[in-house]
Amino acid sequence: MMSRVNDDMLDELRQCKAMVDERLRQALPGGGGNYSTLLESMRYSLLDGGKRIRAALTIKFCEAAGGKPGDALNAACAIEMLHSYTLIHDDLPCMDDDGMRRGKPSNHIAYGEFTAMLAGDALQAAAFESLLNSELPPERVVKMAKVLAKAAGAHGVCGGQYLDLSGEGKEHTKEELLEIYSMKTTALFSASAQMGVFAGGGTDAQAAAAVEYSKAVGLAFQARDDILDCTSTERELGKPIGSDAENQKTTLASLLGIEKCEELVEAETEKAIYALKGAFERAEFLKTLVYYLASRNY
Ligand code: IPE
Ligand code: IPE
Ligand code: MG
Ligand code: MG
Ligand code: MG
Repeated sequence: MMSRVNDDMLDELRQCKAMVDERLRQALPGGGGNYSTLLESMRYSLLDGGKRIRAALTIKFCEAAGGKPGDALNAACAIEMLHSYTLIHDDLPCMDDDGMRRGKPSNHIAYGEFTAMLAGDALQAAAFESLLNSELPPERVVKMAKVLAKAAGAHGVCGGQYLDLSGEGKEHTKEELLEIYSMKTTALFSASAQMGVFAGGGTDAQAAAAVEYSKAVGLAFQARDDILDCTSTERELGKPIGSDAENQKTTLASLLGIEKCEELVEAETEKAIYALKGAFERAEFLKTLVYYLASRNY
């Protein structure tokens, strides 16, 4: 699958990342007087790290739907702020208890638990602030905010994380895992893609295609993450390996075995590409990105 990844796609991904990193830096200045440490800890987790895959989806779906990258920039920053909050909380001792993230000590290791919790909370609020500051027709912004709120809430990330954590030590069936993944991971991928379509003024059919695509991409992404937790190194991933086994989590990798899990990633990759067929004129990046994600090593 690796052979389909090309330099154009990698260049475009780098451009998205650079654009988003710059805007995030501006959106979250230091300062804060007596609570400057809180702001510092937010910047610590949000900036200088992260592949910015979700932001790239927002920007590229916006372009595919006929918009300009700048139309989606506030939404792209919003999704990365929200995602960063979920990672800060995911690493806390009461959740996955992981001491390393994006190649450096996790937020709670660097700043302590209450600061990490509040940094996550504040990043979630900052995400909605960024989104609501989008210079787009208000009806588009409202649609985007609804999608993001739903994905972040009890029927999305929070519900998924609840099921993931309350299921530790239990054997899950494949169906149960698929449900958990659709909430804890796919929900944000789907929100990223849909917000992009809305920012670009796309059609309902395009939004539906974006959802189909991201369901497959999100599942493949989490399955690949599970594989890497078993097969990679802390150095390459920038986060601890063996975390899932240590926490007695059933994952797709532990349930199916690595080989079958890789087959699932490939099958979902093909599904994602199929979902784009006929829906967008310019979807080359979105197609190539899924091959890149399927074979990623970090
Ligand atoms: C990690 O997401 C959490 C999962 C859903 C597996 P990423 O692998 O996108 O993390 P960053 O943003 O690049 O650090
Ligand atoms: C990620 O699941 C889900 C969310 C953060 C919402 P993981 O717990 O597998 O993510 P990593 O492996 O710690 O990045
Ligand atoms: Mg987790
Ligand atoms: Mg984790
Ligand atoms: Mg993981």
